[in-house]
Parts: sequence; C-alpha cells; structure tokens
Amino acid sequence: MPKVATRYLEVDPWVIKEKGFHPKRSRVSESVFSLANEYMGVRGYPEEGYSGNSLRGSFFNGIFEEKTITHAAAFKGMATRKTFTVNSVDWLYTRIKIDGEQLDISKSRITDFVRQLDMRTGTLTREFVWHTAKGKKLRLTFLRFVSMKTPNLGSQRITFKPLNFSGTVKVCSGLDFSTIHKQEHRNMWLALQKGEKNGIYSILAETEKTKQRVFSSFCLKSEQKLNTKLIEQDKFIGVDYSIKLINSKAVSIDKLVVNHTDKDDKHPTAKVWSKGIELAKKITTQSFDDALTRHSAFWADIWDTLDITIEGDSANQQGVRFCIFQLHQTYHGLDPKLNIGAKGLTGEAYDGCAWWDTETYCLPFYIFNNPKAARNLLSFRHKTLPGAVKRAKELDCVGARYPMTTHDGSETCGVWQHGDLEIHVSAAIAFGIWQYDHLCQDKNFLYTKGIEMLLQISRYYASRGGWSPLTGEYGFWGIMGADEFHMMVHNNCYTNVMAKKSFEFTLKVMDEMKTAAPELLRKVSKKIALKPDEPKDWTNKAQKMRIPQDKKTGVFEQHDGYFDLPHLAIKSIPPTDFPLYDNWAYIRIFRYDMIKQPDVLLLPFFFSEQYSDEIKKVNYEYYESRCSHESSLSPSVHSILASELGMHDKAYEYSLHAARLDLDDYNRNTCEGLHTTSMAGAWLNMVYGFGGMRTDGEVLAFKPSLPKKWKSFSFRVLYKGSILKLVVDKNKVSLCTMRGEPIIVKIFGKKIKVNDKGVEIPMPSNRCS
Ligand code: BGC
Repeated sequence: MPKVATRYLEVDPWVIKEKGFHPKRSRVSESVFSLANEYMGVRGYPEEGYSGNSLRGSFFNGIFEEKTITHAAAFKGMATRKTFTVNSVDWLYTRIKIDGEQLDISKSRITDFVRQLDMRTGTLTREFVWHTAKGKKLRLTFLRFVSMKTPNLGSQRITFKPLNFSGTVKVCSGLDFSTIHKQEHRNMWLALQKGEKNGIYSILAETEKTKQRVFSSFCLKSEQKLNTKLIEQDKFIGVDYSIKLINSKAVSIDKLVVNHTDKDDKHPTAKVWSKGIELAKKITTQSFDDALTRHSAFWADIWDTLDITIEGDSANQQGVRFCIFQLHQTYHGLDPKLNIGAKGLTGEAYDGCAWWDTETYCLPFYIFNNPKAARNLLSFRHKTLPGAVKRAKELDCVGARYPMTTHDGSETCGVWQHGDLEIHVSAAIAFGIWQYDHLCQDKNFLYTKGIEMLLQISRYYASRGGWSPLTGEYGFWGIMGADEFHMMVHNNCYTNVMAKKSFEFTLKVMDEMKTAAPELLRKVSKKIALKPDEPKDWTNKAQKMRIPQDKKTGVFEQHDGYFDLPHLAIKSIPPTDFPLYDNWAYIRIFRYDMIKQPDVLLLPFFFSEQYSDEIKKVNYEYYESRCSHESSLSPSVHSILASELGMHDKAYEYSLHAARLDLDDYNRNTCEGLHTTSMAGAWLNMVYGFGGMRTDGEVLAFKPSLPKKWKSFSFRVLYKGSILKLVVDKNKVSLCTMRGEPIIVKIFGKKIKVNDKGVEIPMPSNRCS
C-alpha cells in the first residue's frame, strides 16, 4: 500500500506514551489522546493554553449547529442544510503563572515531558518540568478522565511540585465557551446565564441557530484553602486563585466538571439551568478519587471480560487495544438518540455525523461486546425514519432513503455526488437489522421497529430502480457505489446485491410474522399504508435483480462497463500524491479502474457461505490490485479476506495498518480526528480476520490463522449471553466458555459443543504463515 507509518509514540501493550514533547505532531497527539464517554468528548489539548498548532476541541454527542449549503447551481433534491457537531465549552480551561510569567509549552522551557493514556484506567496524564525565566523549576502533572460511569462528569487534577523553590503560583481555572469551531473559523455560542453558588461555578450557553444548550459547571477541591476570585466574561466563568508551594512538596487541585445538554429549544432556559445545577450538586458530592475509582472499574471490567491479546507483537497489541478503547469511549449504548460519528468525538472533521459506517463496520463490534448498544444504534435509525421517508420524497421516490450523513435524520451531505447518488445506506441498515436479528434474536425489536424500517427500505428500492429494456433485469441506474471513485454508474454490483438482500429479508420477516406476530404485522402495514401488491413486486424485483459478473472468470463487475475502464497501476502513484482528494484534480479520480475502498469485496465478507473459495479468490485478486485504500474503511476488509484465503502475510500487513492507522498516522490526517470506523475494522480483523469468524451461517463458524510474528492470540465474544473465548497458537485452537451456557460452533468446518471445560483442536499447518 502506498502509505507509510510515522511512529513517534512509544509501543507498550497498555499505554500510549509520548516521551518528549513533539510540537510538530501536536494536533496528531491531541486526536490520539482524546477522551470520551459517548455523552461528551475532549481532545488531548494542553488545557493550560497553548499558542502552537492546536485544535482545542470539546464536543457533546448530538449537539450540533447548522448552516445553509450553497450550491453554485442548485437542483431539486440537493441537500441544503449542513449540520455539524459544534466545538463547545473548554471545561478544562486553566492558566498558570509564576512571577507574572505564563506557562505555554509552545514557548516555555520544559523538560521531562511525558504524556500518556493508560487504557487500563481510562486516564490521561501529562507531566513535565517547567523552568521559568527566573530559574524556578516546577513539576506539573495534569491528570484527566471523562467518566464512563457518570456521563455528565469530566475531571481534572493538577499537581504542582516545586523542585527548587518555595513560593506562589497563580492559577485561573474556568469554563470557556469562546472556543472557535475551526472549520467555520468562528465561535458559535451565545451565553445565556452564569453564576456561582456554594462553590459551584456554572454557565449556560446555546448554539446560535439550532438553539441547543450546554450547561457546564465546576467546583474545585483541594487540601489547601484556595482564596478564589470570581472572573466573569461574556462567554466565560472562572476563578483566579493562588497556591502556596513549599519546596519539594506536591499540592493537587481537583476540578470536578458537570456538563448537561438539552436539545429541545422549547424547554425554558430556567429549566435547563436548574436541571444542570441539580446534577452538579449531586455529582460533585463525590471526591475526585472516588469518581476515578468508579470510572477505572468500568475499564477493568471491559478488559477482564472482552479483551483481545496478542503474544509476540506489542505494536499490534497496542493498536488493537487502542481501537477497542476508543470504540467503547465513542459509544456504549447510553442513549438511542445518539450515534457514532466517523471521527467519534475526537475532531471536527466529518462533522460528527452518522454514516453507513455504523451498521457496516461498527455494529458487529457492539453485537459481540455490548448488544444493548447494538440495539440502540439501530433504534437511532428507527427514530430518524421520518427523515429517511422525507428524503425519499425529496428525491422523487417513496419509502426510506437513509441519508449519507446525518445528525437527526435529514441529509446533511453537501457533496451531492455522494449525498444523492450513494443509495446503499438504506441497505446497510437493513443488513444491520438482519445481523442483529440473526445474532441476538431480539424479536421484540424486529417485529416493531425493525420491520417498519425494512418495509420502508424495500419500498424505497422498489421505487428507485428501473428495468433494462435489453435484458428485462431490474437494477439501479445513475448511482455511486460504496467505492466512491466512480460517479453516476449503472448497476453497482454491491448496491444491487444489497438491495436484493433487503427485499428478501423484508419478505422473510413478513412471512415469519404472519404466524409469530400477525397483529404487529397488521399494525405496521396499516401504519405505513402498505399496498397488497407491494410484497409481490419486491419478490419479482429481487428475483430479476441484475448482478453483473463475468461468468467465465467469476469476477463480479463492479458496475456496468467497469471492465472496460483504463487500468491504472496503483503502485505507480507516488506516496506524496495521497490523499488523492487533496492532490489530484477532482475529476481525474473518476476515469480509471482504480477504486477507493472495497465494494464488490464486501459481499464475500458479509455473505461468506454463499460464495465458493474460488469465487472469493478471483474477486480478491482482481479488486485488491485496483484498490487505492484511500478510505480508512479499506484495509480491514482486505485483511479479513486475505486471512480466509490463506494469504497470511498480506493479512498481517493490512491488519497492522488498520490497528495502528492513527497511532502511526498512516493517512497523514490523524490531526483532524481519529478514524473510528477503521478502529471497528481493526476489531473485525482480529475476530473475523485472524479468528476467521463468520456469522452468516446457522452457528458461529471459525477458521483461525496465525501470523508468523505472533506466538499466540486470543479474543472473546459475547454471544447469546455466553462469553466464548478462543486462544490460537501454532499447535492448537483452544475454545471455552467463560460465562453462560455451552455454545455449538463450527471450527474448520466441523461442528463442536464448547463449554466451560474447554476443547482443543489441532491447528492445521496451512493456517500459520
Ligand atoms: C468513505 C465512506 C465513509 C466515510 C466516513 C469516506 O471516505 O468513502 O464510505 O462512509 O468516509 O468514514
């Protein structure tokens, strides 16, 4: 792949460590050291103020601002409203002065710098020695966490230890709503109210246009009595205080921050304020240490139950754990009104919107780690179904046309080529519902929310397609496939297969409900005014769907005419040309057989049982050489298929890329935020790739392989209430249940029953590289 790793962080299985400050990589570090808890997220910026390159980023899931999209030439159906998760309050705001000199690590003299994220405890610490102009040496340690147990709570501890003096340090600590949303080059908050009561300092602000509100408050805790002076500015509340330091003695100040969001502009300001105050009073009764103990217990439990281990490769081990850590931080099923932004809560890029990434890449992680979160992610799509129905109408169709990017169900993708032409998002949701039903058997969800979405999705595909006058086949003309490097194509193979599957699954669930839940079926049919001939129409369209394929070679044709496109050898593109969107004329991208990310290749991954090894192989070989991996969604799928096909070195190489994409800044854009989808891909690599798990059959099937660099690896999946553990080494695969009932699985094609006593299967030599 024409991408290179830039490694500056230390390799360690549990800790992400920056030893010595790397100012040139400051924004990359800010992304990597982001903390979040689904409710809110904060980048790893220096809270004491930093005049170097920085994106001071603090985000609340679902709190967005909007703006009008202006198209030079606007046509019916193009999205006109962009929404973006707005950069919000800097609740870590701190300024530190000694003898009138302000600390700013971009300018001050510092030594012994270490910044580290400990994934075992979910804490970020940064420490260094500040050498002031007058020769004073002060060791500073900043510790922060965003509570996984109390969603509203964020905490900061600053420890001051003078190394060669006794004296005073002046500190300003506060809540700052004057943050700049960098992509818009301006601040987007109006302060509504602020004040102090009983040592709790609070401020409430709202977004300019959407009128969504964020309440933020803090209190300080310290062994030393702090003489505080209230500071109020337009968008700021805080305090000035001094600390008396005695040489060699450490003093810590704890800041407990309680944030509260409210999206409903009909709620009176006074109500939002009093709710915030009530939460602040309750939550700040605990000490920093108690809150930290509870937060760290959350992480201990995660690692105890569902960790992945790799013996013999600490770089990959660290990468995989980092991905798992970030996925839990980004989302863990707190609220079905929230979703996963493509950058999580770690940057402004991709606007914090939900994409098809959620169902296609992230959902399996949640299904096998936290099924409640999986259900909530799909519930988000049900909540936003009215938006998808509206969108279909805007595009002269009916049914549910789910948007390319969204916060609230409306289409916000201003690049119309993508927003209007990529019609595969609805099918990704249908596929997500299928996976969730197949693996979690939540019939209550399927027969209520699930079926309503499925009916509307099928209705959409029945209205969007057309019939070929030459062949009599059904298909989709004038679209863009998942690959995105071919515009306005006809019959993208992946899209057609996925639409066919959506029809088939909808029909199957309807059939099932006729006996299992007839009343619910009647209710939903009435609700959406289902016409009696619609299911018949879907059956016909599914049967006659065009699936382009060269019957001689077995290679699926990505879209009509794809085989005739001029070939471009990806290897001939200099690495400095990447990202291509930044360095190539836009239209140059669309004229070759080069693809951006897997498209056809998603099919043998999703529906493994339906394709022979031979078909998988010819398609892999054909499309891999044409893939630029310009999307971070790409390497993981290649790694999974390469493992299955016994190309172990390739599988390993691709997996390393996915697991360490951000730690090693492979795409040279980690500064904008983390690639959450690729992180889900890294988990898929371990479980579906090296674990060889396939989930589309009647039972879970495994065909593990072991990269030559590894001595062994292990992973666990939560399935039907049991935890199944697999350990793979050169000689054997050991399976056991760690919790719950025995499970029937297939291993290397053979069915076995696994219980807590465990079972060992010899490892075939061709599964090790
Ligand atoms: C990919 C899309 C993806 C989006 C967000 C794009 O680069 O092509 O498939 O949904 O990124 O991750």
